[in-house]
Amino acid sequence: MDSILSLCRRRGFIFQSSEIYGGVAGFFDYGPIGCELKRNIKDLWWRDVVRRREDIVGIDCSTIMHPQVWKASGHADGFADPMVDCRESKMRYRADQLYFAPVSVDGKMIGYISQLEDVGMQTLAEESAQRLKAKRKIQGKMDPIQLRTIAEANAEELAQIPSPTTGNPGTLTAPRQFNLMFTTHIGAVADAASMAYLRPETAQGIFVNFKNIVDSTRVKLPFGIAQIGRAYRNEITPRNFTFRSREFEQMELEYFIAPDADWQSFHREWVETRLHWYLSLGIRRELLGQEVHAMEKLAHYARACTDITFAYPFGIQEIEGIAARGNFDLTCHQQCSGKSLEFFDEDTQQRYLPHVIEPSAGVDRVFLAVLCSAYDEDELNGERRTVLRLSPQLAPIKAGIFPLQKNKPELVQLSRSIFENLQRHWNVHWDATGAIGRRYRRMDEVGTPYAITVDFDSLENGTVTLRERDSAEQSRVAIAELVDALREKLD
Ligand code: GLY
Repeated sequence: MDSILSLCRRRGFIFQSSEIYGGVAGFFDYGPIGCELKRNIKDLWWRDVVRRREDIVGIDCSTIMHPQVWKASGHADGFADPMVDCRESKMRYRADQLYFAPVSVDGKMIGYISQLEDVGMQTLAEESAQRLKAKRKIQGKMDPIQLRTIAEANAEELAQIPSPTTGNPGTLTAPRQFNLMFTTHIGAVADAASMAYLRPETAQGIFVNFKNIVDSTRVKLPFGIAQIGRAYRNEITPRNFTFRSREFEQMELEYFIAPDADWQSFHREWVETRLHWYLSLGIRRELLGQEVHAMEKLAHYARACTDITFAYPFGIQEIEGIAARGNFDLTCHQQCSGKSLEFFDEDTQQRYLPHVIEPSAGVDRVFLAVLCSAYDEDELNGERRTVLRLSPQLAPIKAGIFPLQKNKPELVQLSRSIFENLQRHWNVHWDATGAIGRRYRRMDEVGTPYAITVDFDSLENGTVTLRERDSAEQSRVAIAELVDALREKLD
């Protein structure tokens, strides 16, 4: 993860938001290379989920909606995480990410330790327990440390568990519900009547436009409405770089089906379709997985959910959730707005509220998964190199164009004309400075699949060197055939 973080910064993939002011936790900026990669991920999703399907249409909704939307959807009341405050340090923790354990030596309790969720938390907790034992100057054999979440602590235990920040016991509150929606005000007066929310999911824009889409298009069930857009959640503990951030982008699809349709089979089909999409991006198969949510862990709107997971360096985590939402949302909006949202099925002459399957992916999570999957270090001509083995369709830059020497006007002129021609088709990069090997390696590091070098032979015979990133193999290609040759390779 450290290597990836350093690459992101060094080569302009991702920066911390407002960095010159010390940054702001949970917010990120995508730099010149990063925003190209992010755009490619979104474009491929849009191509595959909307444009290549006759049964799915797109939408692009406002991020601030009528506050009633969030009352109806259940987010105003139910979209909350239990949190624990440290009264002394004022730090706030998610109750499901803060662990504790009693420490006992030869069966005798000597105190408690606390531990924040982490891949190596069992070892860290055991080390804390050893420190406690040493501090108390107690001899003997320590009993096994069994971590539990703070949500499971009773009042007596809570009074003795140390704060993870200060190490002092007795300052943690019992878990309390904390709503994750950011609030703002519409218009000049900042009172309760003008209060609004930044959307915590793009999905509700789709549900409240359901009738508009049905009335303005000729969709027939089953059909889907898709949206890519920003969402905001005031996460208590943003962490793992861009994985859990407070402002992020979603790629969401609501796929509407008849109430009597076999929703389990549609759900299964979408899990398969989405898994294949990740494979089509070139993400390594062995890093992808699936996880079926236990009933008691389902979101308030879901009747089933399967996650597509990715094995990040910090652990296996969700990149996309495929939920079966029943007709929960349309029912709530119909009741709350007083407007009928029923679909008239011409085939059966029936009116009903359709049910929905929701594949919902996080753009930033996919971005991070793509980087982690593609990152590699190898040795080339006796030198270490960092190489991003990105699928050409995702690569932020498709080709680098290099004149062999920058002080030979005829080489520069020919290279510029090739560069300007390729620019009409793809994002390509011009670099005339430095040793050619160094220029290749700068492109390898950001995943550019091809490099084109214009040399003295090019002036003689109208060919250039085409170098491939992963193998570093070179071949000669006629300049007149370059666009076709590249297109074939990139597609
Ligand atoms: N719409 C599902 C989610 O935002 O997680």
